Order: sequence, then structure tokens, then C-alpha cells
Amino acid sequence: MYAVDKPDNHRPVLAISYHKWWTYLDTYLKLGIDDSPQVLYPFVTDETSQEGEVTMKNPTHRTALVTGASSGLGLEASAQFAEQGFERVVITARTEEKAKATLSELETRTGKKVFETLILDNDRLATAEAAAAELADRGGQIDVLVLNAGIAPPKDLVRSEDGLEATVASTLVGHHLLTMGLLEKDLLSANARIVISGSEAARGDVPTFKPLNVDEFAAEHFDGDLEAVIDAQMFMKAPVTYKASNTYATAKVFVAWWAAELSRMLPDGMTVNAVSPGSTPETNAVRNAPFYMRRLMVPMFKLIPGMSHTVADGAGRYIEAASYDDEITGKFFASKPGKMIGPLEEIEMDHIQSRAGQGALWNKTVEVAGGVGFPTMESKPTEQELAS
Ligand SMILES: NC(=O)c1ccc[n+]([C@@H]2O[C@H](COP(=O)([O-])OP(=O)(O)OC[C@H]3O[C@@H](n4cnc5c(N)ncnc54)[C@H](OP(=O)(O)O)[C@@H]3O)[C@@H](O)[C@H]2O)c1
Repeated sequence: MYAVDKPDNHRPVLAISYHKWWTYLDTYLKLGIDDSPQVLYPFVTDETSQEGEVTMKNPTHRTALVTGASSGLGLEASAQFAEQGFERVVITARTEEKAKATLSELETRTGKKVFETLILDNDRLATAEAAAAELADRGGQIDVLVLNAGIAPPKDLVRSEDGLEATVASTLVGHHLLTMGLLEKDLLSANARIVISGSEAARGDVPTFKPLNVDEFAAEHFDGDLEAVIDAQMFMKAPVTYKASNTYATAKVFVAWWAAELSRMLPDGMTVNAVSPGSTPETNAVRNAPFYMRRLMVPMFKLIPGMSHTVADGAGRYIEAASYDDEITGKFFASKPGKMIGPLEEIEMDHIQSRAGQGALWNKTVEVAGGVGFPTMESKPTEQELAS
């Protein structure tokens, strides 16, 4: 199913010096622990925390679609929607078998019969278009679309069936096609909320996760052509090189850019935001991670106060963001810079807010998705453009 490339410059983990390990550990400790008492003493209640199960504010929201519902955060978010009284929760999985098992697990956990399954495998872009067509046949509209599916990429490069690097395929391109399909078929309600899964890694301040500096790379290798860099990153072509953690961080910058650009096209009332669930080690995300990450770093995160939270807390962030008002759109929300959990905060960083990057990413995503872009409306002018 996949073509797997083994980069010949791969270094064995043990080649990383002890000094470097200690630096990582030290930085991670600082990410987790700060001088606030509730973090140093995690059993003391933090009255300012917004984490935990979150209640939807919008009483008209009754239907949700959650991608990647067969595991981790997607599974938990689906359960939380049902537990909050949603009448229809569409859960996507990659195979019929997984979809059925997920449906049964969710019905048992929640005691609700509100779930319906849909097949979506972002490694096969055709399934995203088929999923939208299938939903159109079923009828009804989606109020909350949670684009959660995604992988933590493995040590060696993996490609989707469409030739894309697998992280960007799983988290972005298939989701783009699905969303465009839903919009085109009028399957999103007038005040729909779209939430796409981001990550703190996109901020660029998490040790070992360094997003590609698209501007600098374009200037150095492509005469300033941002789309050429994005193309090279998406298809993992030279001079871009593959390193799992950096590839993940870059894919999540792309997710934030996609949300920003889409927000300019959506009709008033609909919103889209990129939202990080925060450091949530109890999911299956680490299944592909290198040995040192699975067996050393992740267990350590769980021990460091302030470094991780529960799956319920992580999924609760999607639900919290889906409750934001109409004017909050096109943003990237995550833990505040330097932190991995805690209240959601809008991340305002130059590289995240690059209008040129957002536009280039959108254009390239449309191209990669076979020319499928925003279906009906022109880009709305920004406030600045309106004022000038
Ligand atoms: N856990 C964290 O600390 C953390 C932090 C920041 C962001 N995130 C993001 O949160 C999202 C969910 O991750 P998780 O931690 O819940 O991991 P998880 O337990 O591994 O769940 C990932 C889900 O996505 C699905 N999926 C993976 N690749 C897919 C593809 N190509 N097409 C369709 N579905 C696909 C998986 O299906 P299968 O079961 O079939 O593989 C699974 O249902 C991801 O986007 C991840 O990047 C997680």
C-alpha cells in the first residue's frame, strides 16, 4: 500500500550525544514545569484551568462529523458529542471493520444510538470525495466538523497511495477534499464550526520539532517561490529532507495556514480554526514513533507535571473551540508558547500568520487535490483591504 523510502542519511538514535539528550530533557522539563503552584503540585485544583470536559454553548448544534474516530482523541470527541446530547455523530474510520468496532465501542460507552459510520482514508484521496457523496445521499447537515485524523510520522518516510508524504496526507489534503465536498453539496449548516487538529509543534518552540522555514527555504532554493517549497515538502522531494518530527511540525503549520485561508472564503456564520488537542500521550499516536520516543520520552512526559493531560482534556479542546463565536475564525489555538497543555490560547507568531504562506499553501493544496478548491464563493476581502 505504501512506498517506503529509507533515507540514507539516517543516523542511529544512539549516535545522539548524552549532552543533547540532557538538553532535550532539560527543555522538556521547562516546558512542563513553571512556577505556578498548580503545576508544581498537580493535585492542587487549578481554578483557572479551562480543561476537562467542555459543554457546547451553541444550542442549535446537534450533528457532528469526526474524522479519525477509531482511536484516541477522535474516539473520545465522538463520545463527548453524544454525551452532550448530539443527535447525529458521524464517525469516520479507514476500514469497514474498524468503523463497526468503533460504532460498537461508542454505543456501549455512551448508551446512545446516535452514531453512523463513514469510510475515510486520507491515504487514498478518492475516499474523501466518496465520503462526501455518500453523506449527500444520506441527507442532513453537519453542524460541527472535526478534522482530527492524523499520524505521528514514523522514522522512515512513508507515502500515501497518492504519493504524498503521509503526515500531510493524513492531516491536511484528504480533509481539504472532504471539506470542499461538504461545502459543495451544501452539507454544512449555516453556522457550522470546522475544527482541524493542530499541534504545539507548529509553534517551533518544542525541542526536536522544527517546522521548515518556508520563506528562508524558498529564498535559498527556489527563487522565493513558496509554492515550490510546499510542493517539495508535501511530496518530500529534494532539497527538502525527511525528519519525522520536523515533518510533523511543518504539516501542522500547513494546517494552521489552511484554516486561515479557508476562513476568508467561508460564508458569514461558518468558522474554521486549527486547534491543538495538547500533549495527550494516552492515545495511539506514538505507535509509529521511534523506540526512544515510545519507551523513554513519552513515559517521561507522563511523569513531568504540566507536560500532558488526559484524552478527555485533549478532545475537550476541540469541543471548546467548536463553541467559539462567529467572529473567531481563521485562528490557530494551542497551549500558550512554551507550554504543552493548559488553557487554549490564540498563537500569534509571524510564521503562523504569514499571508503569503497561507495563500501559497492553499493554492498548492487545491492543485494536489486535483484542482478542487472552494466551491462557490470568492475570497472575502480582509478588513485591511476593505479600509484601503
Ligand atoms: N496525542 C497528542 O499528544 C497530539 C498532540 C497534538 C496533536 N495531535 C493530533 O491529534 C490527532 C489525533 O491523534 P491521536 O493522538 O488521537 O492519535 P491516534 O490515537 O493514533 O488516532 C489517530 C486517528 O486518525 C486516524 N488516521 C490516521 N491516519 C489516517 C488517514 N490517513 N486517513 C484517515 N484516518 C487516519 C487513525 O485511524 P487508524 O486507527 O486506522 O490508524 C485514528 O483513528 C492527530 O491529527 C494528531 O496529529 C495529537
